Amino acid sequence: MTESIYLVTGARPNFIKLAPLVWTLNSRRDVPFQIVHTGQHYDHAMSQAFFDVLNIPEPNINLEVGSVEQNIQTARILERFDKLLVEKPPRAVVVFGDVNSTLACSLAAAKRLIPVVHVEAGLRSFDRSMPEELNRLVTDALSDLLLASEQSGVLHLKQEGVPDEKVRLVGNIMIDTLVQMQPKALERQTAVRLGVAPGQYALLTLHRPSNVDDPGTLLRLLNLFADLSRKLPMVFPVHPRTKKQMESLAYTAPANFRLVEPVDYLDSLCLQQQAKLVLTDSGGIQEETSYLGIPCLTLRPNTERPVTVELGTSTIVGNDEKRIREAFEQVLAGRYKQGKPIPLWDGHTAERVADSLRELTQGD
Ligand code: UD1
Repeated sequence: MTESIYLVTGARPNFIKLAPLVWTLNSRRDVPFQIVHTGQHYDHAMSQAFFDVLNIPEPNINLEVGSVEQNIQTARILERFDKLLVEKPPRAVVVFGDVNSTLACSLAAAKRLIPVVHVEAGLRSFDRSMPEELNRLVTDALSDLLLASEQSGVLHLKQEGVPDEKVRLVGNIMIDTLVQMQPKALERQTAVRLGVAPGQYALLTLHRPSNVDDPGTLLRLLNLFADLSRKLPMVFPVHPRTKKQMESLAYTAPANFRLVEPVDYLDSLCLQQQAKLVLTDSGGIQEETSYLGIPCLTLRPNTERPVTVELGTSTIVGNDEKRIREAFEQVLAGRYKQGKPIPLWDGHTAERVADSLRELTQGD
């Protein structure tokens, strides 16, 4: 057995959750670790750009799985990670969030009887058509230590019969990253660079299969956003999945609807902080806007992060034109709700995760 634990990462949102834990473990030096990158995301803009701005060291191991159909991708990660577990078994495996890499690596580790720690446990959308929901359910069922970001996660795990001693409410680790990087992000002046005035634009992100995989749905949404951009300029960093579809539609955007390449973490944060409102189907951005107090129209029929609606600034609008227009107008008219602080989203979650990891590994 190696002395280390493995911190598993694979896709863009994982890198943002990994960073503060790496910073904390590096400063404490009481839990040795290695970073395993599955290679689920591999483009410079989707991966290395995040390691660079977040000051995360190069991964110790890269499984280089790349993009394939999701079940094949999961199987490939499972096979390659399992080989690593056999050759160099770690003391524990830490997985983050709900991407395919999270599912594959927790399954491999659990089968090898290696303790699994899930950061961001217990979130549920109750929508099994989302790949992430299945990833969350299976990962939580296999985990030995379940670290929740919000109270709803603790309740779901209790309802599913997970013993209390396996579950801890630690808060939201992405908010640690945000708190740390906020001053640097503002220096970027990203809005000005992209030709829009701070406070006078909407930010759009869109990549969920339910919004972008069907050409009819995507085109209807793009036409709606293009129309809204006549009232308020809209900046749209286009995810590779969405870009592929837009190319097949040969879509051309009007001048106020600014299509740009995917942005790195600092530009994303800067764009959110200075936006009048955000439209998104990303779970992470729902959380970041809630912390920042920026109105967020969530382009999904549901959310696994209900606290962003109950206390935060998010409103579920689905991909329904009427609901999107109504919420958009509310923001422009200054009638949109104000958010409240969310418990334990305080910039100290990584310390609580590191405390739990120390207990787990010292108990071996
Ligand atoms: C994945 C996660 C999703 C997360 C999102 C953030 C799953 C099931 N989904 O979705 O939860 O919100 O990441 O970005 O794990 N591609 C590239 N370059 C890359 C990576 C992907 O061009 O570096 C393209 C490929 O054509 C690929 C497609 O994007 O087929 C989708 O990538 P994939 O990782 O399968 O899913 P995401 O949509 O990125």
